Amino acid sequence: MIREVNNNMVENLFKDYFPNYHRSNIYEHIIIYEEKEIMGALSYSLIYDRIEINYLLTLLKFRKKGIALKLIDYLIKIAQEKKCQNISLEVDITNEAAINLYLKAGFQKKALRKNYYQNHDAYLMIKELVVRK
Ligand SMILES: CC(C)(COP(=O)(O)OP(=O)(O)OC[C@H]1O[C@@H](n2cnc3c(N)ncnc32)[C@H](O)[C@@H]1OP(=O)(O)O)[C@@H](O)C(=O)NCCC(=O)NCCS
Repeated sequence: MIREVNNNMVENLFKDYFPNYHRSNIYEHIIIYEEKEIMGALSYSLIYDRIEINYLLTLLKFRKKGIALKLIDYLIKIAQEKKCQNISLEVDITNEAAINLYLKAGFQKKALRKNYYQNHDAYLMIKELVVRK
């Protein structure tokens, strides 16, 4: 089951996996995939007419079961309801799993961000959306 939760609930989970985790801003929203326990979580910010993915995580034992794709699909529905133009994110250029995932979900590599992470480059990836009137 996928649902939106308040920020505090998964903060520790993100902190464990992303040592630099911080709430990006007051607009942060989090959606989770859970059955008996949380299996994955996605943090995003809605910024006017676009969405930025801040963090996405599937817990180790639940990986490769389509959970991240389901979270992204859910986010795409939110973005369409909010009439967003696009969804964007930065991803480490060595993170093959995440890059493949985003490509599969219809994102495209749009730019290279040099040293976006300390000493690591990142791709800016964007999924353009058709805004329905
Ligand atoms: C990246 C991550 C979120 C993927 O989560 P997941 O739930 O295992 O992904 P899914 O099962 O939905 O996979 C969907 C697609 O992503 C790609 N993918 C996922 N894991 C992959 C891997 N280890 N290697 C290569 N491609 C991979 C594949 O294209 C896959 O489709 P397929 O199963 O038909 O091959 C997960 O590996 C993770 O939490 N990594 C650590 C945190 C992280 O890097 N987050 C992203 C930061 S931007």
